[in-house]
Amino acid sequence: MLNIVIFGAPGSGKGTQSELIISKYRLHHISTGEILRVEMETQTELGKMADAYIKEGQLIPDDLIIRILSDVLALHPDAKGFVFDGFPRTIAQGEALDIMLREKDTSIMAVFNLNVEEKEVVDRLLNRGKKQGRSDDSPEIIQNRLTVYHTQTEPLIEYYRKKGKLFKIKGGDSIDDVFEQITQVLDRLSY
Ligand code: AP5
Ligand code: MG
Repeated sequence: MLNIVIFGAPGSGKGTQSELIISKYRLHHISTGEILRVEMETQTELGKMADAYIKEGQLIPDDLIIRILSDVLALHPDAKGFVFDGFPRTIAQGEALDIMLREKDTSIMAVFNLNVEEKEVVDRLLNRGKKQGRSDDSPEIIQNRLTVYHTQTEPLIEYYRKKGKLFKIKGGDSIDDVFEQITQVLDRLSY
């Protein structure tokens, strides 16, 4: 299986690159943020719970998001591989993902760290907020999301670097150029 993590700050382009990757390599995209937004739109119990965290820019508790991820993996037993977008976001989630994949006799092959300057991600998110109205794209919540990213999520960079799985990507380049950097690595790894 070809399992990939798309890693980076809010607005670094994880969703954008995931879509390009799944269409070229025929993988299954798992965006925990998208899953939660669908639950919020349909106002399920999970959605109402998630809303309280998301609108503050805080993370949903690990045990809950890990359970959601495990359920989604079980729904796709025949997938050629997965693109994990927005998961893992804490060391505990990273360790849980390793265990879940080991149970399927597979593992993470590559983690793409999309490096983008902070000013650029803020501009991208404010811009999207004006157009699409995502509830967490307001100036104050963007700052909370970035703080959460630095404190809780960034330690995963070291976690994957030690495992030799981390690939640094210049995420501030154009969408096509970022994708080109990713495909160069994937084409090398998957043949
Ligand atoms: P999530 O949905 O994962 O949001 P995020 O990480 O904050 O990131 P975004 O989706 O905003 O950005 P992105 O990196 O996908 O960039 P995109 O491609 O959209 O999580 C939302 C919330 O859900 C979290 O805050 C948390 O509360 C909760 N949650 C989710 N997962 C969780 C987990 N595992 N544990 C706990 N809680 C969890 O691009 C952004 C914009 O930039 C777009 O407008 C795009 O068109 C543009 N753009 C993209 N690439 C480029 C480029 N190269 N050049 C110029 N513009 C670009
Ligand atoms: Mg996204």
